[in-house]
Formats: sequence, C-alpha cells, structure tokens
Amino acid sequence: MQHKILITGGAGFIGSHVVRRFLTNYPEYEIINIDKLSYAGNLENLQDVADMTNYTFIKGDIVDLQFLKKLFKKYKFTGLIHLAAESHVDRSISDPLEFIMTNMLGTANLLHVAQEYRKKNSGFLRFYHISTDEVYGSLGEKGLFTENTAYDPRSPYSASKAGSDHLVRAFYHTYNFPVVLSNCSNNYGPNQFPEKLIPLAINNIMLSKEIPVYGKGENIRDWLYVEDHAAAIDLIFHKGKPGETYNVGGNNEWKNLDLIKMLCKIMDQKLDRTEGTSERLIRFVKDRAGHDLRYAIDSSKIASELDWQPKLDFKTGLSETVNWYLKNQDWLDHILTGEYELYYDQQYSKR
Ligand code: NAD
Ligand code: TYD
Repeated sequence: MQHKILITGGAGFIGSHVVRRFLTNYPEYEIINIDKLSYAGNLENLQDVADMTNYTFIKGDIVDLQFLKKLFKKYKFTGLIHLAAESHVDRSISDPLEFIMTNMLGTANLLHVAQEYRKKNSGFLRFYHISTDEVYGSLGEKGLFTENTAYDPRSPYSASKAGSDHLVRAFYHTYNFPVVLSNCSNNYGPNQFPEKLIPLAINNIMLSKEIPVYGKGENIRDWLYVEDHAAAIDLIFHKGKPGETYNVGGNNEWKNLDLIKMLCKIMDQKLDRTEGTSERLIRFVKDRAGHDLRYAIDSSKIASELDWQPKLDFKTGLSETVNWYLKNQDWLDHILTGEYELYYDQQYSKR
C-alpha cells in the first residue's frame, strides 16, 4: 500500500516524533504535515527530516474550513492522523475558548471535509484521532481507565478533547466513516514544550530556578516515553479496527513529588552537583484549579490485540530525556524568550 497521509499538528511534541517515524519506516509513503505553528509548534523539531522528498510541510489552521477544503482537493489522501490540539491544562484554565475552537471546531472541520472527500474517493481508508486519558476524569487511589470507562472530563482541555472524541465516534456510527481512536496517558521525552511538568522542571533545574510543585505533589500520572506512543500510533494506524478505541499507557504511575525527586537526583549527577542541590529548588505552590488526582491506564486491549508494550523503562527514559535537553540548549533558548517569559510570569508569579 502506498499511503498519502495527512498528519495534523506534526510540528508539536508527539506529532514530530510520529512524522519522523513514518518518514523513516515507510519511505514509500507520502507525508503531508499541516500545523498552525502555535507557540507549541516548532519546525526545529523536524529539521533533520525537512528535506526528505516524501515530506511536505504546510502552515495552516484546522479551524479554517476553506483551507482544509483546498487541501483535500489538492492531495488525494488515503489516511489522516489527527494530533493538532491545544494541549496544556493550565492554559485551558486561563483561556478555554482557544481549546474549544481548535479541539472541537477544528476536529469537526476535519471530519466534515474528510467525510465529504471520501464520498467521492473510496481510497480514503482511515481517520485516526489521537486523544488523552484525561477524558475519563480523575481516579481515586484504586482502579484503571479502560476503554469502557464513562467519560467525566473536568478541565476545559479534557472537556474539549472529550467533545472531539464524541464527534469522531458519531461520524463512525452515522456515516460508517472509518475512524479509529486512541486515548493515551502522559507523554514525556525530547522536544516537549517546557510548560509541561518534566521539561519545565528540567529547564528550571538547569537554570537553578525553583521547581513549582502544585499542592502537596501527591497527584499521580502514568508516564509513557513519546517514542513508545509513536510506536503505538503506527500500529493502530495500520492494524486498529474501524470504530475501535485503544487505551495506551506506560503502566508507570508516579506521584509528582517522587518523580521530581528522582529527576533531581539524575540531574545532580549529570550536572556534577552535590547530591541534594536540585531537591532544594522544590517549592510547593498553589494547587491547580480542579486538579485531577490520579490517571492510570489499563492498556491490556492494545497489548493483546495489537501486541504493543512500552519498551523503555522510566529511569532510562528520564535520563535520555535529560541528555537531550542538555545537548539541545539552542532549541530551548529559542523558546525561552518573550512569549514564554510572559506565560511563566502569568502562571507562576502569583502562586
Ligand atoms: P503540542 O501542544 O506539543 O502540539 C500540538 C501541535 O498542534 C502544535 O504543533 C500546534 O502548533 C498545533 N496546532 C495547535 N492548534 C492548531 C490548529 N488550530 N491548526 C493546526 N495546528 C494546530 O501537543 P502534544 O503534546 O504533541 O499533543 C499532541 C496530541 O496528543 C494532542 O491531540 C493531545 O491532546 C494528545 N495527547 C497528548 C498527551 C501528552 O502527554 N502530551 C497525552 C495524550 C494525548
Ligand atoms: P502536566 O505536565 O501539565 O500534565 P497534565 O496536567 O496534563 O497531567 O502536569 C503533570 C502533573 O504535574 C499534574 O499533576 C500537574 C503537576 N504540575 C506541577 O506540579 N507543577 C507544574 O509546574 C506543572 C506544569 C505541573
């Protein structure tokens, strides 16, 4: 099969790993990456593959219906992997409407245009929607999210992703549109924008700045290395069943405070600092509004049906992630200017 795949949000964190994986593993495919290049989109993430002959980047916004119509007219897509989104919970608390526009209206536009296109082009085989475990809400101390857990989103981010998931499933049931979905736990790894916990802490430790820990640091997340997620996306795109959802997780739950302490130890070693130096940077700050206590994924369905397992253990993954940030100071420097300083100040100065 010679696919022509539209990837949305390919200049972001997870999207850039997916674009690279598909370009490298499937040189016979054509990959068209559209991205609005919001604050989180960064073409430096894809510098190493930008000149590949089977790759095209187009700057564009999924909220722009006319842009999408022209795009589908020009390219005879066989499939679509949809990652474009506003993705940070704290930003969704301060600016919810952007999330509703991109995550809900943008997804609706893509579904509509792709469905209209498919009516005339039987070669369109797959609409793959990437989502998050946050749609399931917050767990207590026990239990795991399965594909059958009822939706209970509690932040504007997770509610907008839940809305987009519902739309995708509605297109399957109503039009027999060939969708597939996955809901994944927290990703970490190279190229993640330093607003999310792990890269923010790495950057602050490098700069000997305080590490803001929300509340008492007792919230729990299930962490997955981004390359492991990209491998799951590859499998689901090729082998997932139409209409199905796959939960993807790291089977790797950590309390925020324990995670930060481990990161501090790793960084003290790498930066040749006396043990305990980085831990002294930890500062407990005002909690996030509506902070979900715990996320944890049951990924037995993708394990048994598609034979997927996370490969990298957390300590190695964290160590490799730190190495990447230490080696890619230029990447960070280009981000840590005007917009980021303003954002950081707004989020953290009053906590
Ligand atoms: P990210 O914020 O790093 O990247 C999002 C990308 O989408 C950026 O390149 C941005 O420019 C682009 N974008 C934003 N609005 C757009 C628009 N209107 N039109 C076109 N492009 C637009 O996010 P990420 O962490 O890479 O997440 C990618 C996807 O995976 C999202 O759908 C997110 O909900 C989902 N997800 C993320 C995680 C995680 O831990 N990061 C976990 C599970 C699921
Ligand atoms: P984050 O990386 O924003 O992912 P999400 O909220 O989507 O799970 O946050 C991960 C956890 O870390 C979450 O419980 C909130 C917490 N956190 C902090 O304690 N301090 C911070 O500065 C940030 C960004 C997050």
